[in-house]
Amino acid sequence: MTQIKIFDTTLRDGEQSPGVNLNQLEKLELAKQLERFGVDVMEAGFPASSQGDFNAVKKIAETVKNVSVAGLARAVKSDIDACWEALKNAENPRLHVFIATSPIHMKYKLKKSPEEVIETAVEMVKYGKQFFDHVEWSAEDASRSDLDFLAKIIEKVIDAGATVINLPDTVGYTMPREYGAMFRYMKENVPNIDKVDLSCHCHDDLGMALANSFAAIENGATQVEGTINGIGERAGNASLEEFGVALAIRNDYYPYQTNLVLKEIKRTSDMVSKFTGMTVPGNKAVVGRNAFAHESGIHQDGVLKNAETYEIITPELVGVQSNNLVLGKHSGRHAFTDKIKQLGFTLTDDKIKEAFVAFKSLTDRKKEVTDDDLFAILTDIQTDTSNVKRYSLQEFKVQYGSSDKPSATVTLHTPDDDIIEKTATGQGSVEALYNTLDQIIKEETHLTDFQLNSIGKGRDALAEVHVSLTVEDVHVTGRGSAQDVLEAAVQAYLNGVNRAIYRTTTDKV
Ligand code: KIV
Ligand code: ZN
Repeated sequence: MTQIKIFDTTLRDGEQSPGVNLNQLEKLELAKQLERFGVDVMEAGFPASSQGDFNAVKKIAETVKNVSVAGLARAVKSDIDACWEALKNAENPRLHVFIATSPIHMKYKLKKSPEEVIETAVEMVKYGKQFFDHVEWSAEDASRSDLDFLAKIIEKVIDAGATVINLPDTVGYTMPREYGAMFRYMKENVPNIDKVDLSCHCHDDLGMALANSFAAIENGATQVEGTINGIGERAGNASLEEFGVALAIRNDYYPYQTNLVLKEIKRTSDMVSKFTGMTVPGNKAVVGRNAFAHESGIHQDGVLKNAETYEIITPELVGVQSNNLVLGKHSGRHAFTDKIKQLGFTLTDDKIKEAFVAFKSLTDRKKEVTDDDLFAILTDIQTDTSNVKRYSLQEFKVQYGSSDKPSATVTLHTPDDDIIEKTATGQGSVEALYNTLDQIIKEETHLTDFQLNSIGKGRDALAEVHVSLTVEDVHVTGRGSAQDVLEAAVQAYLNGVNRAIYRTTTDKV
């Protein structure tokens, strides 16, 4: 069996998805979950891009232990310096430095000749090697680069000290056979290629990211890069959960293995979806809500007779509980604390108390509290930023009649410790609420997107709202869950505004 290393870039390329911005606490929780998922390397961010990203990478590097932590750098010394400052306390730090190698990128973006690109790449790998034992070098837009030029620059950066060579399909342009052939070409034409891991990094613009990743490993790649749920720039990256499960299910065909812990998939996927606000489509492979649902009579009949007739992946393999009915009205603190551990959360005693109160109040209104409900409560409490000043909801009322203009009254506790109540109207109940909030919130806020989902099934299911906002020109997302749709809408709006305040505060730290 050949060991394939998994390089997760959910926190870097994934965070480049339009509209996504994770705060430091969320990044840290995701990093811990990625460690549990068993990735070999996690790219924690791009430290030179902002103070907030620098702080998050540093914190992650100091926290996770069983995984190599990488930081991204352009081929400039100051980016590499920022990576080292952020990563120097990591158990196993890694620099990921890139420069574009395709004719179009070199000419128009870099305005450098191919020789200048080689010179810069070699110089920056040598510079990085002064600090890092592990240096991954990426040829941005490799799949649209000249193969002989690529072979030449790769040989030189390996001589300069690179330990991993990554050949991204940056714009998701290439076809599997073509992408595989590029890896084979490098294996056959770069004399020192066996000294390094060859890595693939695929974008999904033409829906080929996973197929291209497999083509790469068939042709000598020993590292696969991707993200959870396939999130990322434009159409996203290769989905790591799909890669891991495809390898496991087809181990009769592929002699490869990874260190991924597949039963952590569901939880990792849920966490990414919740924190990013990027809902997983129902029909998404492996993690979609319908991935294990059999609708047609013929299929249901087959599954009842023998599950293997139509089911190639069992829900248990990826950590989906077939019966996730959990605690109820009469469950005590002990059972609740056990359940928290079972779901993989580590909370301080204060946060457990807070979570227990939220759980009890939910059991008053909801008969069956599922793992998904608990997951929503616990992740919100775990990543709560209440240590910074913020707006919190005291009370709200909405008046709505099908022939009247809706009006809302909201009372908020403000960051200045005031209690303010206002009333306003709108075309609908949500607009009335948001117009009212705007009267209280000092920061200039605009709503750019609103999404409503239910957590689980049934009339009493929790509502989850994700919003995208600009708050004083800062783009943020916000989320809120509550049993009432309007309350979830208010909480999501306040969460977005509070995140903007938190971000401004932590960016300065
Ligand atoms: O897609 C890409 O080329 C990248 C590089 C920075 C590796 O994300
Ligand atoms: Zn990328």
